[in-house]
This record gives sequence, C-alpha cells and structure tokens, in this order.
Amino acid sequence: MHGYDLDTTGIKFAKQNAADRGVAERVRFQVKDVAELSSKAKYDLAIVVEAVHDLSQPIEVLTAIRKILAPGACLIVADERVADTFTAPGDPVERIMYGFSMFACLPNGMADQPSVGTGTVMRASTLRDYAAKAGFKDVQVLPIEHQLLRFYRLTP
Ligand SMILES: C[S@@+](CC[C@H](N)C(=O)[O-])C[C@H]1O[C@@H](n2cnc3c(N)ncnc32)[C@H](O)[C@@H]1O
Repeated sequence: MHGYDLDTTGIKFAKQNAADRGVAERVRFQVKDVAELSSKAKYDLAIVVEAVHDLSQPIEVLTAIRKILAPGACLIVADERVADTFTAPGDPVERIMYGFSMFACLPNGMADQPSVGTGTVMRASTLRDYAAKAGFKDVQVLPIEHQLLRFYRLTP
C-alpha cells in the first residue's frame, strides 16, 4: 500500500502510526504531489480521504489517479456530506463546513495558484463535474451511512 500527501508532518505521523501497529513493512508513505504520480504503476484501488475539496487542481490530480488504476479498479473518494444545493438557513453540517471553508480549506487550497477554489462545501455535483473532466465515466454515491462524510465510487 502506498500513501501520498504534500504535507511532511502528515506523512511523518502516517509512518509512525504504521510502525506503532507493526505494519511498516507493508506500507510506504511519501511526500508527493499526486498530480505527478507515474502512470507506470498500477493499483487495484485508490482512496482519497477528505482531500479533493482541498486540491488546488482537482482535475489534474483525479486524472493522474485514473491513469494509475489497473483494469477493473476504481477510486473511492470520501468527502464532506454537504447538501446537494445551497439553501438558507443551512443545516448544522453546512454551517460547520462553511466555517472550516472560510478559515482553513478555501484559503489553503487557494495558496497554490492556479486554483479552482473549491472550499470545504464541495457538493456532489461539483465532484461529478471534476470526475467527468478527469475522464471518469461514472460516479456513484455509495450507501454508507456517516454523519459528516459521503463516499463516492469513481469508475474509469
Ligand atoms: C484535509 S487534509 C486530509 C489529510 C488526510 N487525508 C486525512 O484524512 O487526515 C487534505 C490534504 O490534502 C493534501 N494535498 C493537497 N493537494 C495535494 C496534492 N496535489 N498531492 C498530495 N496531497 C495533497 C494536503 O497536503 C492535506 O494534507
């Protein structure tokens, strides 16, 4: 299993957690821009947790992931379970996600330019749009119950 992130501290913790649980030999964590993954490697499954809404260039990253998937493989995306459309007043999840967005995810995602400026409130329609532009043929919302996360299966 290979894990990638741009954040050196996050990768350090991932390595430490793997070592603490005795699986360090089976996993490799690396500081890397996922948009620059080599398409020579092929994976049976890719998972992006809580990160698509943070990406300054999500289409480039999703395209790079599609290219490393083996035939029959898919990408699972876990991202915020926000409403399908904006409504005011928003429910408690919308409110907390807009708070995170204004003070963390949106400015962070826009620090690297160019940036699409998604922010924490990434609606399912936005993910579907990014996935289609990245060459995925299908996006399914998986029937997994979770208060804050929605799980998507992206199929090339
Ligand atoms: C909200 S954090 C989630 C981190 C982790 N997946 C988790 O669930 O705890 C979003 C992460 O996306 C990473 N990120 C943003 N753009 C990236 C890119 N192009 N390649 C790799 N990681 C990226 C950031 O460094 C950040 O750690």
